[in-house]
Amino acid sequence: MAKLQLFPIFAAFCLFVGVAVATDVHFEVQGRVYCDNCRAGFVTNITEYIEGAVVRLECKHFQNDAVEHSIEAVSGADGYYTFIVPNDHEEEICYVKLIKSPRADCAEFVENREQARILLTENSGQANNLRYANALGFLKDVALPVCPELLKAYEADDDF
Ligand SMILES: *[C@@H]1O[C@H](CO)[C@@H](O)[C@H](O)[C@H]1NC(C)=O
Repeated sequence: MAKLQLFPIFAAFCLFVGVAVATDVHFEVQGRVYCDNCRAGFVTNITEYIEGAVVRLECKHFQNDAVEHSIEAVSGADGYYTFIVPNDHEEEICYVKLIKSPRADCAEFVENREQARILLTENSGQANNLRYANALGFLKDVALPVCPELLKAYEADDDF
């Protein structure tokens, strides 16, 4: 009797494994969320990373802009997050974007700078299925006092 009752579970398990094998392609997307405490638009050597920030991975269809996939993740220690994304997304434009900061003093973002494109297709020429998204930063409400001097040093570095 007990065996009989277990059968549906076993059958369901087999089905699940079967489906998992059939759609084996998946991508791992990694990235990092920071607090742009100089309001510079890039990471500096005094950038802080934000744990507990909400980010969303979205794929939109090329033609009609319809959102095909949308998943959220929360950044962990040192601002790192990971998405596991099933299937190939050759027909879609995918990006990760900032949704919510846990820090009241660092929660602002600039339209179009709050997101990072990622290519989630095996036809992209990349050897494996690990993808790194550019780091995304919330702007601090007021830049730290050391920033003007720091940014001068960064500009000088860019000059050669
Ligand atoms: C960051 O870089 C600037 C300019 O190169 C340097 O003066 C400063 O000491 C550095 N700060 C830290 C915390 O490393």
